Amino acid sequence: MSGTKKFLTAILSFVLIGSAAMAEAGSNASPSGKATAPPAASAVEPLRIADGPWLQAPSETSVAIVWRTNLPCVSEVEYRVGETESWSHAFSASHGLRDIGHLHAVRLEGLTPGTTYRYRLVSQEIREYKPYSVTFGAEVRSGEYSFTTLNSQKGAFSFVALNDRHEKAAPLRAALKNIRWDGVDLVVLNGDMLNYFESEPQAFNAIIAPCVESFAKSIPFVYVRGNHEARGMLARKLMDYFPTPTGRYYYAFTHGNVRFLVLDSGEDKPDTSPEYSGLVDFDRYRAEQTEWLKSEIQSRAFRHAAFRVLLIHMPFHVIEKDRAQSYGREYIRDHWAPLFNRAGIDLMISAHTHRLSVHRPEKGKWNYPIVIGAPNTVLRGDVARNRLKLTVTEDDGTVRHEFEIVRRAPWWRRWLEQN
Ligand SMILES: [Fe+2]
Repeated sequence: MSGTKKFLTAILSFVLIGSAAMAEAGSNASPSGKATAPPAASAVEPLRIADGPWLQAPSETSVAIVWRTNLPCVSEVEYRVGETESWSHAFSASHGLRDIGHLHAVRLEGLTPGTTYRYRLVSQEIREYKPYSVTFGAEVRSGEYSFTTLNSQKGAFSFVALNDRHEKAAPLRAALKNIRWDGVDLVVLNGDMLNYFESEPQAFNAIIAPCVESFAKSIPFVYVRGNHEARGMLARKLMDYFPTPTGRYYYAFTHGNVRFLVLDSGEDKPDTSPEYSGLVDFDRYRAEQTEWLKSEIQSRAFRHAAFRVLLIHMPFHVIEKDRAQSYGREYIRDHWAPLFNRAGIDLMISAHTHRLSVHRPEKGKWNYPIVIGAPNTVLRGDVARNRLKLTVTEDDGTVRHEFEIVRRAPWWRRWLEQN
């Protein structure tokens, strides 16, 4: 091969190899042949707060604020008391790493009881995440919202409870629209708001969006897990969307003169039922709650509360003809109900049966009224220093039941009377 021929062959090879490299790089290759970064998702869809915020896990000194962005972000909450103080910042981190993703749950701690805070969300897109370099994208900020921390010294307040909506968003919206929100500090969703949890849109469309539109940016809701929320692939992620103060679905908290007791009645049928495919462990879980319950009812906060309100999805005293359907309830009847009586529960708010019913106390069985909400009812508690008035309405506001519970005598007086 002559020198000229060798030169021309080399040029041709270079061109062919270069073309192949360009073809492999596809549209990411620049005219110079150098690869560029793929187009960022944000170039297609601008960063935005897609859902929320919704307030969770309220206490006297803390609250969790949850929201979702359309793109993966790192986030924080800016908050302050009133208008003049400077903003404080809070973010979430796990095991030393700041949380990143689409769903953001930031817990504000060290707050002052009964205090109104203003807050706003800040999320910044994580455009590219490499081991030693991260490319940040746009930042989005929400408007300002406010919330008020719980307060055990508060004289009067109201709460509302809904249940068993089973993903029916339109009636839920209608019910929320008819609620008189003045004085309401707390909302309870008493289980089976979902049919099961296997995709994010279920929770957003059926529960979160109606609540956010109506109240949840400024009033927290307490999600009491029902048996249907224990079903589906995402059941194991429910806490990510609806965090609790303790990271468990059973806990207690105080607002005003009420100690709220939240229990998780679990699945209705035995753990060995074929429907559960051997993937549940509720026997042990209910036994764990029994031990916790024994301890909670001995606590000072519980013993000294004027009213003790039990929030539980499945009513233990309604036993189905099909005993398998009542397996979980029978455990609660046998192991928890005696503790409820011993503890001096004043009111039990329940759900699950899809039938509105109000049960007067039956001495020795349940020494307190039991109210079972239906899928089309709203329960409202108006609490004052010496009374708790419960009103049950249908979604359109029609009153179905109304009764009052008068404040119990102080614990030391009852103790003296009993000893
Ligand atoms: Fe249920």
